[in-house]
Amino acid sequence: MSTPDERESEKVKSTQECDPSQGLQQRIRQQEILAELGVSALQGASLDQLLNDTVQLTAQGLDAEFCKVLELLPAENSFIVRAGVGWSRGVVGVTKVGADLDSPAGFALRSGQPVISNHLEKETRFRTPELLRQHGVRRAMNVILQGDGKPYGVLEVDSRSPADFREQDIAFLQGAANILGMAIEREREERKLREALARNETLLKEMNHRVKNSLAIVGSMLRLQANDAEDEQAGELLNEASHRVDAIAKAHDQLSRGLDVERMDVGKYIEALCHDLDESVAQCDVRTEIEEGIVIATDRAVATALIVNELIANAAKYACDGPAGVITVKVARGEGNRFVVSVRDEGAGMPDDSNFHGRKGLGMRIIASFTRQLNATIEMKKHDPGTEFIVSIPLQASA
Ligand SMILES: Nc1ncnc2c1ncn2[C@@H]1O[C@H](COP(=O)(O)OP(=O)(O)O)[C@@H](O)[C@H]1O
Ligand SMILES: [Mg+2]
Repeated sequence: MSTPDERESEKVKSTQECDPSQGLQQRIRQQEILAELGVSALQGASLDQLLNDTVQLTAQGLDAEFCKVLELLPAENSFIVRAGVGWSRGVVGVTKVGADLDSPAGFALRSGQPVISNHLEKETRFRTPELLRQHGVRRAMNVILQGDGKPYGVLEVDSRSPADFREQDIAFLQGAANILGMAIEREREERKLREALARNETLLKEMNHRVKNSLAIVGSMLRLQANDAEDEQAGELLNEASHRVDAIAKAHDQLSRGLDVERMDVGKYIEALCHDLDESVAQCDVRTEIEEGIVIATDRAVATALIVNELIANAAKYACDGPAGVITVKVARGEGNRFVVSVRDEGAGMPDDSNFHGRKGLGMRIIASFTRQLNATIEMKKHDPGTEFIVSIPLQASA
């Protein structure tokens, strides 16, 4: 004797068999759905979006009321409902189902095969989970969601209605699971890449920090040597050398603070440099007027800072005789994709200020060399009192 449900199911089956065009239409719709999911996966839809689309469209393609993605939680030997459609509130993201013979999904996972069960109540291979019972589910179909190595979980479609899931339906469900599996795998890979990138960034910061420390050691050794030097001039030269090393160390300090190592805010960097020089150059007061937000390539910023370092050293050395010698350093955006750095003192002026290019101390040679490297121009302005050096620098190296 067959039950009323089975009789109804037979009726539906025979209607489908009598009307092949209906079956054909459903297959066509299923093909369209797979294509749609494929495109959305290729276009890089987020995993959540794809999970939701998959359960919606899969349910549609199989005329079923329920569909869900069960994510395997190996440590608990259970699945969690990761995405779903048709279920009552509070199921998705919360409800767990046993991953053993407690569920058709567990059976699919253990057997490694797709599972169709058109009569859950008669099933001997596995038990019917409470979740399905509560929702009046009569039949279920499960396929494994394969990640690259381990399975991610199971894609399951469930229905209350009497008709049967068929072999062809498995092909459709497996197709949807394969697309989702690839997207899950891609997400895992992307996550690994993101983590690797974050590790690299931390490492790079750490490296900059260490380079800064090493350079600071070199700088202080030079200062010790300067203090030890018998000859005053040699001491001064060693001291100047220590400031050059410090200026480069400062760049690494700046880099280990920020996120980007290829570019930096040149204003902030010069500000920090001036702050240090203000403390180490006792005889004068280094003041700054800095425009922040001028972000340029790190090597250009370092070259700029080395120019500023020499200009400040000279101002301190030759133009800060009085008790309150002031050196003013400015950084600002200029016209036509340039920025302008100026260093002004209040000293007696250059000895022969008509031709400062002709003077060939190491400082001026360093200034000339970096000015050329930056494709910049330098101009000297005579004030009363004092001298101002104005360096106009392109924001970018010319191609
Ligand atoms: N701000 C300044 N005020 C007055 N004279 C300066 C100033 N900057 C540079 N000079 C003069 O230019 C010369 C060259 O400077 P530089 O090349 O740095 O060599 P150094 O500092 O070793 O003497 C200095 O010796 C000094 O006479
Ligand atoms: Mg000098």
